[in-house]
Order: sequence, then structure tokens, then C-alpha cells
Amino acid sequence: MIVSVCSLSGAPGVTTLAAALTAAWPSSPLTVPVMVEADASGGDVKTWHRLSAEPGLASLAAASRRPNPDVADGVNPLLEYATETPPGFYAVTAEAAAHHCEGAVWQLGQRPWLLKKAGAAVADLGRITPRGPGLGILGASGAAVIAVEEEPAHLARLAACSVLTNGLEEAGVRAGLALTGGRDRFTDAEICAQTGLPVWARIPHDTLGAGFLRGQELPAGRTVWARARSWARERRDVGPVDWMPLLRCARDLAERLDTARPRTPGEDGPAQQGRDRAVKLEAVA
Ligand SMILES: Nc1ncnc2c1ncn2[C@@H]1O[C@H](COP(=O)(O)OP(=O)(O)OP(=O)(O)O)[C@@H](O)[C@H]1O
Ligand SMILES: [Mg+2]
Repeated sequence: MIVSVCSLSGAPGVTTLAAALTAAWPSSPLTVPVMVEADASGGDVKTWHRLSAEPGLASLAAASRRPNPDVADGVNPLLEYATETPPGFYAVTAEAAAHHCEGAVWQLGQRPWLLKKAGAAVADLGRITPRGPGLGILGASGAAVIAVEEEPAHLARLAACSVLTNGLEEAGVRAGLALTGGRDRFTDAEICAQTGLPVWARIPHDTLGAGFLRGQELPAGRTVWARARSWARERRDVGPVDWMPLLRCARDLAERLDTARPRTPGEDGPAQQGRDRAVKLEAVA
């Protein structure tokens, strides 16, 4: 399943949430969650962790052009293009500049079959724009988490984009909100009434949790960080990260998304399906 994380305005913490979801996603020997940096404006993870650019988004996009899907069942094809980050989650990283990423994001949206073959691909789409390159991946997703700051201006912008969010529903993409900013000014019902979207999570402000995902050494002590990193690799015991509210919240959201069944049949269907759904979204954007 592809889970897209995106925003419609501002910089509400999309990349951080995508990384947290990947780190917290329920893992099994056959399901290794992979974050895919598919923000057309450029990636961050490579810079956060001083990783090399390749393998990464460009080679994944090039591979997606292959005519015949020949990936064996149970094999996550994204791992070939992903790097294990120091906090323990895998990521397909992208170059920091938009001109290196736009084409690759568009290409992946045209042929999202490699993303769909992964048990859990968490795509950071950044800010979605009308007719932007990210719409293809968004339309091919099983679920879309829209991050929005719980501020009247940002909520009003989201409400004004109902033609796009309704288009997601029509394309068979389950969509819900992740509220950021930690303000709790409005109830879930009020936000749903204004935007037409359910509140799936309220992301806590958590400097340590965000710092952990960015690879920062923070004043919690080496042993605590080592235990947290080991959790992100093994995921056997939630104790080592339960004290980070961001990771705890991401785990609840990941479990919710993982257990909910996609509405559209043929989750791993032909590439054409992704194209059709993207075209449908473009038509309403
Ligand atoms: N839940 C959080 N708690 C504390 N800090 C956070 C949280 N989420 C994000 N941040 C911080 O906010 C800043 C922006 O976060 P991030 O890069 O994830 O946003 P973005 O929406 O992806 O922005 P961009 O438009 O640059 O892609 C970063 O410094 C990050 O560490
Ligand atoms: Mg970002």
C-alpha cells in the first residue's frame, strides 16, 4: 500500500510525519516499511543524515519505466533504492533541489507499480499543487494523510480545496487529517464539518522526537538514543520510544492505516490504474 503524506499549505511537518510513520509502521519479516521522498520541491533526509544521493529517487524513477513488472511476491523492490538511516528506518532519498526531483516524482506517478509492490511505502509528497507532479502518486495511494496546522487560515485553505479532497474520495483514496501545531483550538467534529475530512491524528509538538528522526544527538543520553534506534530497527517492544509523544502518536496512526482495508480493489493493479486516478485528480485540481 502507498500511504501519501502531504499538505496543501504551509510547512506543517510533512517530512517529519512521513519519517515518524515509517519508523513506527508495524513491521514483519515480509513488510519492511520504506519512506519515499517524493516532494517535487526537494528532499531532506539525505541532508539530515549526510547520506549519499544514490541509490535514491532518481534510480527508482528510472526503474519504474521498465516495461514488465517482474518482482517476485514478498520482495520489497523499494529496498534496492533505499538506505537505512541512523534512526533505523529505510528511506528512498531525493536530491535537495526541485529541478532534480520534479521529473522523477512525475515519472513515479505515471507508473507507480514499484511503490505499490512494497508492503508499506510512505510517500512524502510535500505541498500538493494543482496539476503538480505529486498528483500521480497521490491518486495511486491507498490512503492520504493531509498534514495541516490547526490555524483558522490553514483550515480555511483546506476547506477551499474541497474540490481536490472530494476528488481523492472519488479516486478511491481514503483521506484524513493530521493536525499539527498542538493547539487543540477546535474539536474533531468542528474541523470535520469545516473541511469535510476526518481527523485521524493530532501530532504533538515533540522536539526530541523530531530531533531523533533527524539524527540529532539530544540531551537524553547515549543509552536512551541507542535503545530508541534499536527499537526502530526491531520494533519488538514499544517501551524505548513510548516516551517520545511524536513516535507514540505515529505508531497509533500507522496501526490505524495498516488495519483499515483499502476501498478500491486491485491495490497492486496495473500501472494504468494509477494514471487514470491521477488524471481524475488533475481534472478537479
Ligand atoms: N511534531 C513536531 N514537533 C516538533 N518539531 C517538529 C515537529 N514536526 C516538525 N517539526 C520541526 O519543524 C520543522 C519543519 O518540519 P518538516 O521539515 O517536517 O516540515 P515540512 O512540512 O516537510 O516542510 P517543507 O515545506 O520544508 O518540506 C523541522 O525543523 C522539524 O524538526
Ligand atoms: Mg518536507
